[in-house]
Amino acid sequence: MTTPGIAATGVRRSFGDVHAVRAATFEVLPGRVTGLVGPNGAGKTTLLLMLASLLAPDAGSIRIDGVDPLSDPQAVRSRIGWMPDALGAWGALTSLETLVVTGQLHDMDKGAATMRAHALLHEVGLADLAKAPARVLSRGQKQRLGLARALVHDPRVLLLDEPASGLDPLARIELRTLLRRFAAEGRTVLVSSHVLSELEEVVDDAVFMVAGETVAQERVDAAARSVAPWRVRLAGADASVAAEQIAAALGLAPDAVRVDRRDVLIGFDSEEAAAAALRSLVSADLAVAEFAAAQGSLERTFLDLGTTAAARVPAASHDGAPASDPSPPEPAEQSAAAEPTTPDEETRA
Ligand SMILES: Nc1ncnc2c1ncn2[C@@H]1O[C@H](COP(=O)(O)OP(=O)(O)OP(=O)(O)O)[C@@H](O)[C@H]1O
Ligand SMILES: [Mg+2]
Repeated sequence: MTTPGIAATGVRRSFGDVHAVRAATFEVLPGRVTGLVGPNGAGKTTLLLMLASLLAPDAGSIRIDGVDPLSDPQAVRSRIGWMPDALGAWGALTSLETLVVTGQLHDMDKGAATMRAHALLHEVGLADLAKAPARVLSRGQKQRLGLARALVHDPRVLLLDEPASGLDPLARIELRTLLRRFAAEGRTVLVSSHVLSELEEVVDDAVFMVAGETVAQERVDAAARSVAPWRVRLAGADASVAAEQIAAALGLAPDAVRVDRRDVLIGFDSEEAAAAALRSLVSADLAVAEFAAAQGSLERTFLDLGTTAAARVPAASHDGAPASDPSPPEPAEQSAAAEPTTPDEETRA
């Protein structure tokens, strides 16, 4: 069996009375990109810091590529590339120096570190800013430098905390390509993000965290099977007229479908139910111009795991049982209480 790139069992960490991570148990496999998903304050950063050997757990066990960060932090640090949510850069150093010094901290000689630094600056689009002090970089440029810094020593396991925040659209696409490439090279990639639609495009697996606990796979699977909103549009029809036509064609009560701007929203509890409804709409000669899930599966699972009840949608069963109020998907409301303090990893360790 392949050794998981990351394995955590019963990991816990509190800060005084704040139980930041209560119970984290999960595995992350090499060759895949895994998302770490959860609302603000769920404990993602705290967990990542522990995985990165920068913060000691109160209890539980962690293995990075089979190595225990508590007993051998050096071996773990040589295996992981860590990108914190905010670059705690040495402001006076230039981008180039930041990477060269990082390479030297990983026991590279200066020549090799310098070559590697130039290659990485080029890769993350900072070649023109090689000589700029890190403190003058824009937010997105700092993110790029943070990513390059995580990659200097060619790590097997990548831990990235909100890597896309502050990046422009092109840089986000490049980041996705890079993460896919790392996975294809057999590395382990764990990436936290709030932008679920973006994660959706890049991840193979997801670890969900709610209130300090990782969610068991069975619950995630059950959430994925729950009722989901679908978006339907009829060509040339006003949405409220379309809603009536759709409800009639599907044998639903008029209030079982809902108008959302130009579209009609209906809840289905499976893809099969949605497919059957589509067949009925087409058989009824309705000009279906769009018929698609209104949410990505990560977003739906995230919402369904109880982070908010707002987006729950009753099922519109195709055989005519009326369903009421299929609410449109709400943006992922964050349920955390306190604004998390996120000091630099150095001060938190
Ligand atoms: N050094 C600390 N001292 C005290 N409390 C802390 C500390 N670090 C984190 N916490 C608390 O632990 C909880 C989890 O914080 P953490 O930063 O891990 O959440 P997160 O999931 O990364 O959130 P976000 O999505 O906002 O980045 C929060 O309630 C936060 O206030
Ligand atoms: Mg965080």
